[in-house]
Amino acid sequence: MVMKLEVVILAAGQGKRMKSRLPKVLHTVGGMPLLEHVIRTAKGLEPMAIHVVVGHGSEQVQHALAQYDINWVVQEQQLGTGHAVLQALPAIADDCVVLVLYADVPLIRLSTLKKLVQHAQAGPGLLTARVQNPGGYGRILRDAKGALVGVVEDKDATPLEREIQEINTGLVAAPHRDFVAYLPRVKRENQQGEYYLPDILSLAVDHGKTVFSCVADSELEILGVNDRIQLNQVEREYQRRQAEQLMREGVNIVDPARLDIRGSLSCGEDVSIDINVIFEGRVILGNDVSVGANCVLSDVSVADGSVIHPMSHLQGAAIGKGCSVGPYARLRPGTVLSEGARVGNFVETKKANIGPKSKVNHLSYMGDCDLGAEVNIGAGTITCNYDGVNKHQTDIGNGVFVGSNSTLVAPLQIEEQGFVAAGSTITGNVGKRELAVSRARQRNIEGWARPGTRDSKD
Ligand code: UD1
Ligand code: MG
Repeated sequence: MVMKLEVVILAAGQGKRMKSRLPKVLHTVGGMPLLEHVIRTAKGLEPMAIHVVVGHGSEQVQHALAQYDINWVVQEQQLGTGHAVLQALPAIADDCVVLVLYADVPLIRLSTLKKLVQHAQAGPGLLTARVQNPGGYGRILRDAKGALVGVVEDKDATPLEREIQEINTGLVAAPHRDFVAYLPRVKRENQQGEYYLPDILSLAVDHGKTVFSCVADSELEILGVNDRIQLNQVEREYQRRQAEQLMREGVNIVDPARLDIRGSLSCGEDVSIDINVIFEGRVILGNDVSVGANCVLSDVSVADGSVIHPMSHLQGAAIGKGCSVGPYARLRPGTVLSEGARVGNFVETKKANIGPKSKVNHLSYMGDCDLGAEVNIGAGTITCNYDGVNKHQTDIGNGVFVGSNSTLVAPLQIEEQGFVAAGSTITGNVGKRELAVSRARQRNIEGWARPGTRDSKD
């Protein structure tokens, strides 16, 4: 875009209707604060600067979005949207177009913003929308010829004006000079005693200017979040958009209404996702991966052909090719599965390297350990990695077989082809091809009957 553009995002309001201690703009949609959605969309316009007006919880808001290059403007008292923009004006270059966005309108599309901004070099413009239920929104007033003459807030509107279905989305773009000319003249003579930003439009009309308007394509993209019901509507719409995008890219989603992506998900070809799956943070799924019902994957990568069976929870894990995980597996941060490894039901892992084709199939805890290739860990095996003060490492070589219900007390090394007999408590290293047995020898007592039964002596 050739024109010089600066963006102002209004984010100072408390959001009383949310009934929350958290500033409204930090409530999340798809795991990301409302304000961050708007900042990211705004960046798509490549503006010279982004100014964010903060007030309520301003330090908390600035801290949460510290990674962005933002000019923060503090509005000490929230005296209205017009007053908020006025606070940002001195920091804006005087030969540019200014676009005002609302942090509580997070689904706005880049293409819509581009349309609005395109016209704004010539004069003030407003994004409007036609909605079924306009309650709560400012209504668009037009003259007999259809030209926009102003906006009336819901609270100030007459019953007749309340029937107008064209509403103010809040998004305004205009040359900087228009804001400078009209904002200081805005009065607070209204029901709320606030300085309303849309009042600059009627002031411009009074000065003989034409205010252009463009109508948003969909009612959903201009949804404002003022309470938790609207937050939920926005969340579901956002999730629907993401699911549809993935399906367009070839992902098989069993039910798009039962999928939640709270971060980013990238998928290879022929990926299949069953119902009630939650993806958090950054998740990467390779070709032919399938994720079963009711799984949670946070910051996970899964390579080609692996299957995550139902009810599994994976966090900070890297799964190699052709692996099998779950059902009911819990993989904690630092878990790495090499090609063809299997982690089965009721197994917990943490900082665990599971080598190629190794199996931990049932009821085990594998923490701070390194397993070579083709290791077999019997059901109920526990790595005792914590002595109450420090964590210790367990190293298990290629081809080791650990019998069921074994306790491996770390630090410990079991060399390749070593064998641990079932039910052992292993406290010392096991050498190559050694069999370690550490349990009471079995005694069989002949002719024994339970006390009190017919065969007993008493
Ligand atoms: C506003 C519009 C209304 C429009 C609706 C669209 C005004 C007067 N009304 O109403 O016409 O239909 O948005 O969603 O503009 N804010 C500040 N400082 C303030 C007040 C608000 O930064 O002093 C911020 C809020 O954090 C929020 C945005 O401005 O992000 C809008 O404020 P809000 O109180 O939600 O206005 P609405 O009543 O929704
Ligand atoms: Mg609002």
